Amino acid sequence: MIETCPKKRMFLGITGLGVLTILVLIVESHLTDRISSKKRDFPVEQNSTCKDKDTFEIIKHCEPCSAYDIASQSIGVCIHTHFKEVIKCSSGEMVTRSCDRAAYLDEKAYWKFEGFMFVSIFKETLSEPLFNCNLSQIHVKYYEASNLSSISEFCVWPVVITGIDVTAGLCSVARKIIKCCRNEKYKSLLGFKDACLLACSESSIWTKFCEIDMPKTVKDTLTKVDDYVKNGNLHIPLPLIKFEYHMQQPVRMHNIYKVARESHSDKTLKSSVSIENLNLVHTYGEGLYMTLADVLLYPCMKILFQTFGIDLLENIVPLSISWFRTITNSDLPEIYFEVNKINADPHRYKSHNRLCTKQLDIENSFNIINNSSIKIFNSFLPFGNEIEFDWSTVPLDANPEGGALPKKRASRKCEQLENLAKAVIKIAEKEKYLIVDFCSGSGHLGILLATLLPNCQVILVENKERSLQRARERIGKLNLKNIFMAQCNLNYFKAKFHIGTSLHACGVATDLVIQNCINNGAHFVACPCCYGGIRDCNRIKYPRSAELSALNISIKEYLIIAHAADQTHDEENIKTKQGFFCMDIIDNDRKLMAESQGYIVHLGKLQPPSCTPKNNLLVGLSKHLDR
Ligand SMILES: C[S@@+](CC[C@H](N)C(=O)[O-])C[C@H]1O[C@@H](n2cnc3c(N)ncnc32)[C@H](O)[C@@H]1O
Repeated sequence: MIETCPKKRMFLGITGLGVLTILVLIVESHLTDRISSKKRDFPVEQNSTCKDKDTFEIIKHCEPCSAYDIASQSIGVCIHTHFKEVIKCSSGEMVTRSCDRAAYLDEKAYWKFEGFMFVSIFKETLSEPLFNCNLSQIHVKYYEASNLSSISEFCVWPVVITGIDVTAGLCSVARKIIKCCRNEKYKSLLGFKDACLLACSESSIWTKFCEIDMPKTVKDTLTKVDDYVKNGNLHIPLPLIKFEYHMQQPVRMHNIYKVARESHSDKTLKSSVSIENLNLVHTYGEGLYMTLADVLLYPCMKILFQTFGIDLLENIVPLSISWFRTITNSDLPEIYFEVNKINADPHRYKSHNRLCTKQLDIENSFNIINNSSIKIFNSFLPFGNEIEFDWSTVPLDANPEGGALPKKRASRKCEQLENLAKAVIKIAEKEKYLIVDFCSGSGHLGILLATLLPNCQVILVENKERSLQRARERIGKLNLKNIFMAQCNLNYFKAKFHIGTSLHACGVATDLVIQNCINNGAHFVACPCCYGGIRDCNRIKYPRSAELSALNISIKEYLIIAHAADQTHDEENIKTKQGFFCMDIIDNDRKLMAESQGYIVHLGKLQPPSCTPKNNLLVGLSKHLDR
């Protein structure tokens, strides 16, 4: 019957039902209020009876107890309703008592639900897929996920889509939003040279802190609060302690002496004074001015402080709390920001953090490999070497020689690209594959592939905005329609694809690319680089293969080989030959790992090998894809 009912009548019927439900609820809530208000008598701290004898006023209205209060049972009244209220009797006595806002909150949640259901029904009835709402001057539009462009599915959300580009990763997305913002004054949140949180989380511990560590801590705290409150003691999450320590450190920022002179109104202040003695303290995460980092950290800190109780943390992390209050009291639109810079990771370039490779240590690591049955092998000619390649058929904008690169570099880049392109052409020529050029830089390889393989689609994945801007210009000139761009850390890329390529993805990035391909059952074509930059991270552990791991080679001994692999710059240098051997050890380790996953792996050298010192080419053919 209902399906034959006209839309108008159905709408009227549903509205009538809604009104009836509301009436019933109002009558019911009046009745229950009267009954329950008689019965409400909540426990009071230390069984004080002053409120029964004296008049009293409520000093602090009913508020939720913190997770710490509840778990530690430090405030007895919190055990009962998980809400507390502070009252002051006319005798001056202050007591805390339990209170019940749960019913109120439940009621609020209920009305929210009712409201939502009502809007949904309304929306469905009128077959309106979108609706607008105004959240204090922010215009929000709701889209059905299925109505979004398919590129929204390339990366882990949050994402921003503009034309053929998708931007992913919390910091990149927030930066993109600020860049698109029409109000110029918010743009100063991007800091000196717009560089705030520009580097990816793998190379900047500050980006990692804001994008990964703090959100993860919040999640852990909310889901496993008992891990932080043990035997009535509070275990402060490590990132919170790190932030407090960071806030204690002297401010390091661009133009620090100029800023100090202005702050202290002292024009005579000399640049010879050490930064520690400039008496500049952190007001914000990056120094004296608010930046995007504060904006991203604020909600995380707010949740942490609410969970543990801000009063309890007051003496433990005072600088973090003072920072929190400063931001809470900031009237953001009125704030005047100035450009600034922080060296987010001042320890990053300290030489004592670098591993020194002594020749004796290198030989020791070689012995471990040479005394094993593992064969270190490189077949010299790369996969696809026999494929014909003619640069004269390539449009100038897809050719590095047509761009801004100096002539010699452009010609070497062409030689490098040719080798990778031949390998990809050999795999994909007759296919309609989705090819991902990871760590694409300004897109030399991806653009060339999109031009040569018009049946395939190509996605450039790169975390640097500026590099992708150059790619965008070239794609526009070539009018390519089979290429997209994802500005994100490659960890956030999640689309299914057939071939993953990378030319000179630094250190661990090559292993992340290969791993991503293996997870997708995709082929890979990878020319590694910066062997000395590899290190264990949460997704990648070295050695990569079971064979090398079985040698019980320590991570230090392994990294010594990786460091020596970077000593291949000068052809005349005696270390160069050794360096190439070290590159082969690391790449044979990668090869063995991929083979254990069912891949057929080819390790060769780019031709001519002089086109780059980092000239190994690993090609992995997946058994999951027919060729
Ligand atoms: C040496 S460049 C190579 C660029 C390009 N493939 C070429 O050969 O011209 C390495 C690039 O990888 C990018 N990159 C490094 N780690 C990355 C990551 N985790 N996610 C995305 N891009 C990354 C860097 O921004 C840089 O542009």
